[in-house]
Amino acid sequence: MFKGKLLHGGDYNPEQWLDCPEILEEDIRLMEEAGVNCVTLGVFSWAVLEPEEGVYDFNWLEERIDRLGEAGIQVILATPSGAMPHWLTQKYPEAMQVQENGKRNLPGKRHNFCYTSPVMREKIHALDERLSEQFGKKENVILWHISNELGGNFSDGACHCKLCQEAFRGWLKKKYKTLDNLNRAWWGRFWSHVYTDWNQVHSPAPHGEWSMTGLTVDWRRFVSEQMSDFCRSEIQAVKKYSDLPVTTNFMAFFKNLDYNRLKQEIDIISWDSYPFWHKSKDEVPEAVWASANHSLMRALKKGPFLLMESVPSAVNWREYNPLKRPGMHMLSSLQAVGHGSDSVQYFQWRKGRGAYEKFHGAVLDHLNGKNTRTFRDVAEVGERLYALTECLKGTVNVPKAAVIFDWENWWAVEDTTGPRLDLDYVECVLAHYRAFWEAGIEADLIGMDEPLDGYRLVSAPLNYMYKSGYANKVKRFVENGGLYVTTYFSGAVDDTDLCFTENHPLEDVLGIVPEEIDAPSEEFANSFSYQGREYPAVRMCAVVHPKEGTEVLSVYEKDFYAGAPVVTRNSYGEGQAFFIAAQSDMDFLRVFYRDMFQKAGLQNALGIELPYGVTITERVPQKGYKGQAAEEGVVFVMNFRHEPAELSGLGEWKDAENGEIVSSVLRMEKLSCRILTK
Ligand code: GAL
Repeated sequence: MFKGKLLHGGDYNPEQWLDCPEILEEDIRLMEEAGVNCVTLGVFSWAVLEPEEGVYDFNWLEERIDRLGEAGIQVILATPSGAMPHWLTQKYPEAMQVQENGKRNLPGKRHNFCYTSPVMREKIHALDERLSEQFGKKENVILWHISNELGGNFSDGACHCKLCQEAFRGWLKKKYKTLDNLNRAWWGRFWSHVYTDWNQVHSPAPHGEWSMTGLTVDWRRFVSEQMSDFCRSEIQAVKKYSDLPVTTNFMAFFKNLDYNRLKQEIDIISWDSYPFWHKSKDEVPEAVWASANHSLMRALKKGPFLLMESVPSAVNWREYNPLKRPGMHMLSSLQAVGHGSDSVQYFQWRKGRGAYEKFHGAVLDHLNGKNTRTFRDVAEVGERLYALTECLKGTVNVPKAAVIFDWENWWAVEDTTGPRLDLDYVECVLAHYRAFWEAGIEADLIGMDEPLDGYRLVSAPLNYMYKSGYANKVKRFVENGGLYVTTYFSGAVDDTDLCFTENHPLEDVLGIVPEEIDAPSEEFANSFSYQGREYPAVRMCAVVHPKEGTEVLSVYEKDFYAGAPVVTRNSYGEGQAFFIAAQSDMDFLRVFYRDMFQKAGLQNALGIELPYGVTITERVPQKGYKGQAAEEGVVFVMNFRHEPAELSGLGEWKDAENGEIVSSVLRMEKLSCRILTK
């Protein structure tokens, strides 16, 4: 926690109101009333901070920071590289991004810069250093925020200009040393794609090369590397005169940048959460999606993270934008905290009068000041967070289960061709994660390079690419007593998308020999029975042989591969490995994972079955926390249903907020969260 606080506030854009002093004064007054203790300044302020090249005006910012400080409000200070001023793009058009089709962007929008461009780096560096010098030691400035949603708004998250192409070739030379190595790694003789000169290598493009997965995955790796380098250059600048920690706001399941790479540059993970609440009356899919992202962000650095943006009412960028129904703002805010966030921050404090986001939800609307439902909702969150501070101090979630979620695997499995072209990695991971969510068993979402120590159960759905060292790590994990689950189309290729030959790398651990994969049409869908109930086998049906000693728990019921295993179990060392050969449905995953939880000795924090739509998480005192941590853990019980829920059989607990004793039965309002302790 920052200075012992749960942060509450959000993006504040006083630069849009500099000619309205009464508004600026009202902001501070209403922030105090809303329980705001932290705002983010400067995210898109370049044109105001540096109105002309080399001419800086920080007075307004200094005034705001001081005024906020007087009111006890802390500041997260952003670097403004998220949007470029017109003087910059006019004088240095080369600082703008080039699209896959080779066209350079025109000025405008945001996230429009080339992260390789020396001039872009030089200009932002100069500005960042001055920000560092002037504000890096201010008492109420607590954190640097680099840029905004790096990689956002690009069609494919990448710049394809000449400089980026050159940098890509340089990166490849470093990685492969010789063209011969590169040609081998990418299987270059196929379609005569043998490179004989480094300059023949181009970034992937729809009207050029996109057919080599080795190239496309390497290009994506390079983009993450180059963006991390850009981020690092900004970090160096802001750290010149300041020791403050650094963050950059990540996005939900953002495919274009490998956050396991980018995280290495920053001190604190933060992200922007915009679930599509009320898309349907069943809020569970969105709640699962939000929880999964929280779990991913927490797992990146295995610790508390910040919710940097969320909307207190409705966004403006979906086709239709439902307002948050009563209860949902509090619930979704506490959902973040329950998963390990030490903040609830919003985009945005006040709606602007014009341009793109004037109808995007904000704490303050154009009309009615604080006399709105949204303002009251926000103030209530502020009050509740303040009251929760003591019991959450130094606490964090420590799951005993993990689901593998890996960017390089994501790119590879969706870039590759066959067995079907509509594979959706995130959807598959979410289906497996949902089984954990429904049972109230927390899981980290971790990359393949992360250690598996400390987990009892690791699930690796659609784990197509085995990066080097991964198979051995899994082997050791199972040998030492871990429970490992994986599925069809896993372990097919290595780091550069070359298929494994001879043996599947985990053949001994899984106890199966893969033979072929059917991607059947709906009419040819298969089925299998698991524990006396029939489930569908659809879309991806692997045909495998069990090895000697492998237990076959289910078999296909139809077609020429009837009798081949669908679910297998193999004991290996002290542990067990399960293989699911076919895609099925949620009913199956629910039942299957219930068994896994039991086998792994995993229970949720209340030790009970949860009604549909209710989940729980637990924050426990963190080992090694510097400072006075809370003494007890707390359990967040969240009801995402539009009707009350009743949980029974949970023994005796205390409501951490009002001290009420809860014995055996917990009644919950619709869309609500209760926080329990022992
Ligand atoms: C985020 C972005 C904010 C704002 C918000 C609107 O992605 O970082 O600046 O545009 O979306 O929902």
